[in-house]
Amino acid sequence: MFVCLCHPFSDKKVKEYLDASGRSTVSKTYSACSGGQNPNCCQCLETLKDIVKTHNAGATA
Ligand code: FES
Repeated sequence: MFVCLCHPFSDKKVKEYLDASGRSTVSKTYSACSGGQNPNCCQCLETLKDIVKTHNAGATA
């Protein structure tokens, strides 16, 4: 499933990044998954926020 369409990346890529990084923030996650871009339309940020929040709640690092 694509999370962001402006700088396309998938939920799989987000999960891979989060698994490798431990805890992270939405902005760091966006930058890492988009290749250093800033959000454009920002429609994906709620979805990304949910994924990061769920991940951080279960992360131990
Ligand atoms: S869909 Fe992610 S910035 Fe537009």
